[in-house]
Amino acid sequence: MNYELDNIYCADCYEAIKDIPDRSVDLIVMDPPYQITNTQTRGKSDFSKSMQYMLNELEDGRFTESVRGGVLLPQLVRVMKAINLYVWCNGKQIPMYLDYFVKEQRCEFDIIVWRKTNAMPLFNNKYLTDKEYCLYFRKGGYCNPQTYEDAKTVWDLPINKRDKDKFAHPTIKPLEIISAIIRNSSKEGDVVFDPFMGSGTTAVAAKNLNRHYLGFEIDRKWHKIATDRLNNIQANGQITIFTE
Ligand SMILES: C[S@@+](CC[C@H](N)C(=O)[O-])C[C@H]1O[C@@H](n2cnc3c(N)ncnc32)[C@H](O)[C@@H]1O
Repeated sequence: MNYELDNIYCADCYEAIKDIPDRSVDLIVMDPPYQITNTQTRGKSDFSKSMQYMLNELEDGRFTESVRGGVLLPQLVRVMKAINLYVWCNGKQIPMYLDYFVKEQRCEFDIIVWRKTNAMPLFNNKYLTDKEYCLYFRKGGYCNPQTYEDAKTVWDLPINKRDKDKFAHPTIKPLEIISAIIRNSSKEGDVVFDPFMGSGTTAVAAKNLNRHYLGFEIDRKWHKIATDRLNNIQANGQITIFTE
């Protein structure tokens, strides 16, 4: 299948990526389901149901297995013109990415941190869950921030309640951070690929910045929400106006 740019396809990225031509993508920004363990919620409230949904998604170990089994990452490298990739992850996943991109592929790397200024006060026998990591790997890839604000690696932002409400996705990422990394590591007209689109944050940022986007989302509900979002329609059917 030939994909048309500026589209999100409702597809399983592990299969669909095989049809993307070699060296056709300038930048990958991806946010796969994280793997976390030993966490449970109880109760029937909307809050605990949405928390449970999020944890179920996070507990999807298929991604981690596919990385460990050498399935997805070589495909990502194949489709990029040069290694130029951002991936959101939790602390436990950092070693597996360093193993592949730094040890094997000899990439340079950096770590961007989203420090959540309104994290939930849950610290029973553990630290707060008050940050997420976005790892950047490049070998020949492009990173050229034009402002101090775009060059920073720690972002202090609250959990994205406003966009969560608008687009309903439990793990939506801040448009501000995604926009900055796309500005820094691509040029107008470049192709930005996200295999795990969710509510389409990468596509919205790419479109706003005059980049082409291409993406996959396996779940029909999120696929519709993402494509509606690109047409300025919120999850509840209201028309929205996008700001960074
Ligand atoms: C962490 S979320 C991405 C959220 C996104 N960054 C946003 O801001 O809305 C991961 C998404 O990957 C999707 N997903 C999981 N497995 C997939 C697969 N095999 N192919 C494509 N999408 C997949 C999930 O349905 C989920 O919406």
